[in-house]
Amino acid sequence: MRSLLFVPADGGKKLDKAMASGADAVIVDLEDSIAPERKAAARELAAAFVKEAATRSSRPRLLVRINGLQTGLADADLDAVVPARPDAIMLPKAEGGAAVIHADAKLAAREAIAGLADGHVKIVAIATETAAALFLAGTYRGASARLAGLTWGAEDLSVELGAEANRDADGRFLDPYRLARVLCLAGASSAEVPAIDTVFVDFRNDAGLRRECEEARRDGFLGKMAIHPAQVAVINEVFTPRPEAIARAQAIVDAFAATPGAGAVGIGGVMYDRPHLTRAMALLARAGRE
Ligand code: COA
Ligand code: MG
Repeated sequence: MRSLLFVPADGGKKLDKAMASGADAVIVDLEDSIAPERKAAARELAAAFVKEAATRSSRPRLLVRINGLQTGLADADLDAVVPARPDAIMLPKAEGGAAVIHADAKLAAREAIAGLADGHVKIVAIATETAAALFLAGTYRGASARLAGLTWGAEDLSVELGAEANRDADGRFLDPYRLARVLCLAGASSAEVPAIDTVFVDFRNDAGLRRECEEARRDGFLGKMAIHPAQVAVINEVFTPRPEAIARAQAIVDAFAATPGAGAVGIGGVMYDRPHLTRAMALLARAGRE
């Protein structure tokens, strides 16, 4: 999943716009974009939308962002949306692998009631929204086979830290959020799931979005969340493996294939060893998929 577009569950025609946006995934939001008094209505709208959208033949992945496990709202969210067969839920304010295990059990019970296969609904966790979560980012490994990705958030974290800002005057994240970003990347890598970069809220600033996408790709993120359909094309472009990258990866794979048992090869005066081969193979697999 290169691009994951948020849409408020009570967004009306935005829901269909999101489906047609070209995003690899649509995240129907029950959390921060829904006012407390609208939660119950939003649940029903989300369920009705996902139920219909899930039956479409060529469609993006369908996620529902539920409310956090600490809120007292998550059970009712899951009761409403699991029977609609979303591909995954997004778990906000997750605090480590224990939160994923907790959500896994809640999903398993609802899947059984709804007649869905055990494990049908995957989990993408937002791993850095509380201070405690930062210390638990390394605990996702092995938590659940449902875990399908980790992402991170700076907005809730900055509120919790009592910060005045999370970006500098140039739009770059400040140190606490750069740390959260790295913890997400390392946590995802250790759990062997994709790392997905956080939202860029300045949705009229294409150059800023592109820069953030490129920095994310450089560092190992495989996609980015969006909040506006205009962000989808840039995200898809930057996270689609480029022809030069594919050619370089293919050359590395070919060089190792030509020298069986080699631990390192030289191509054009540069040394490549086993980690480079692993990375090249992962990139080729991704290029084949998207
Ligand atoms: N998904 C689908 N369609 C969207 C969209 C989204 N996330 N955001 C905007 N659109 C649509 C608008 O409805 C509008 O459609 P129209 O041309 O048919 O009227 C079009 O795209 C252009 O929108 P624009 O006028 O530029 O923005 P806006 O002022 O309508 O909306 C936001 C701005 C921020 C309110 C809106 O982008 C949004 O709701 N984003 C998601 C918020 C969210 O889910 N937050 C939680 C995660 S952080
Ligand atoms: Mg939030």
